[in-house]
Amino acid sequence: MSEKQATPLISQLLATWIEGEASQAYTITNYANAAAILFQNMRALNWVGFYLFDEVNNVMSLGPFLGKPAVALIAPNAGVVGSAFSSQQTIVVDDVNQFSGHIVCDADSNSEIVVPITTADGRQIGVLDIDSPELNRFSRQDQADLEDFVATLLPYISA
Ligand code: SME
Repeated sequence: MSEKQATPLISQLLATWIEGEASQAYTITNYANAAAILFQNMRALNWVGFYLFDEVNNVMSLGPFLGKPAVALIAPNAGVVGSAFSSQQTIVVDDVNQFSGHIVCDADSNSEIVVPITTADGRQIGVLDIDSPELNRFSRQDQADLEDFVATLLPYISA
């Protein structure tokens, strides 16, 4: 018998915040608060943000984030960001120093997770990128929770 997983608390918090603030129609606002909700509620993070795909110029550009200033433009097949985007798979990197082609934004980062953001009809919007100063920071449960978080955010950024 399959049981439906409970919605992760972090996703509930995001939806409650956006609906409570009635910001549903404001895409940048929702990205910004989504980054802040993750940064404040997950332990041991040093960077949380979004890279958004510009299909005209075929590049990922830095979106709302918290952390140190970061690389502004990433090719859609470069780094962990581009690899997750082009493969359309979440990538968990336990040790960024072992990831060939990793793009350094903050020398404090040791592990990273990148989750693609894609609509149900296949429009590739970008990725959520999170860095940690800890090695092996992101578990399978974190991956599931963050994929749910992105699914929760999607209707608020893709209208
Ligand atoms: N490390 C990423 C680049 C972005 S920073 O982590 C914010 C990468 O390799 O794509």
